[in-house]
Amino acid sequence: MTSAVIGFSATGPFGRQWSPVASSADVQDSPAAARLLGRNLVLWRSPSGAVVAAPDLCTHSKGDLTKGEVNEGLLVCPKHGWTFGDEGRCVFKPSGLPINDKAHLKIHSCTERYGLIWVSLNDPSVPLINLAWDGDGLHRRIHSSVSVWKSNPIRIVEELLAQPNSPFDDVTADVPFVVQGTSKSGDGVQQRRLVSCAPIDSRHSVVATVVWTTNGAHGDDAKVADEATADLDDAQSAAESGTVLTPSIDIASDEDASSADWKRRLLAFVGQARD
Ligand code: FES
Repeated sequence: MTSAVIGFSATGPFGRQWSPVASSADVQDSPAAARLLGRNLVLWRSPSGAVVAAPDLCTHSKGDLTKGEVNEGLLVCPKHGWTFGDEGRCVFKPSGLPINDKAHLKIHSCTERYGLIWVSLNDPSVPLINLAWDGDGLHRRIHSSVSVWKSNPIRIVEELLAQPNSPFDDVTADVPFVVQGTSKSGDGVQQRRLVSCAPIDSRHSVVATVVWTTNGAHGDDAKVADEATADLDDAQSAAESGTVLTPSIDIASDEDASSADWKRRLLAFVGQARD
C-alpha cells in the first residue's frame, strides 16, 4: 500500500491549475460567488464581455463584492460605491478622490471554455485541457453545469472510476481531477462527457459536468443532459458516504489498473510541484 496525505492550499500546486468554479450561465447580469482552495471569489462579466475573477473583498474597506451589483459590466461595491471594470481596475469613486494603484482589484487568471468559468489562483503552470471535439462541427455541446459535493476530489475521482454500472464504454482519468468518458448507442450516436473537479477545501469540491453528442437532432437534448447528470448520483452518494477523512492518495496492491495509474500520476504531479 502506498499512501500520501495531500493538502489543498491556494499557494500549492493546485493553485496553479485551471479549476472550474462556475458555469457560464451562472455569470450573467449580477456578481456570482465562487469558492476555490479556501478562497472566496467574486465573478462578473466586465464591459469587454470577459469574465473577471477576483477576491470577494473590496480594496477600499473589505466590502463583500458579491453583495454588490453589476451595471453595464461595472461591478459596484455595496458599501461605498467604488466601481470596478475590465481586469478589475477601479474606474470610479463616489468621493471623487484620485484612483491610485492600490484601488485596483488583484484579479486571478480566468477564462471561459466548454460553457464553464475556469480560474487559476496563481500563474497557471499548464494550459487548460484541450478537447479537440468541442466545436469540430460533429459534436454539439448540450450541457454544462457545476455543483458542490461534500467530499474531496481524490475520493470523487476514485468513485467515478469505480462505478460498476457506468454507462460509458471507456472512462479515463487525468491529473489532477479530470474524468472523461464516451458511449455509443445502437443508432451510432456518440456521447462524450467531461467531469472536472476542484477542491473547495478538504471536505467539499466543485464538480463540473459537460456533455456533447453527435446527434444532429435537438429534440432530446434535455433528456440526454438529465440522464447524464443522473448517472453521477451513485458516485456522489458513494463519495459523500462515511467518515470524512484527511485527503490522501492511497494505492492498494490490488487496485484497479486505471485507478492506480491515475494515482501514481497524481503523486508525481504533487511531488514535482513541490520541487
Ligand atoms: S468597502 Fe467597497 S467601496 Fe468601501
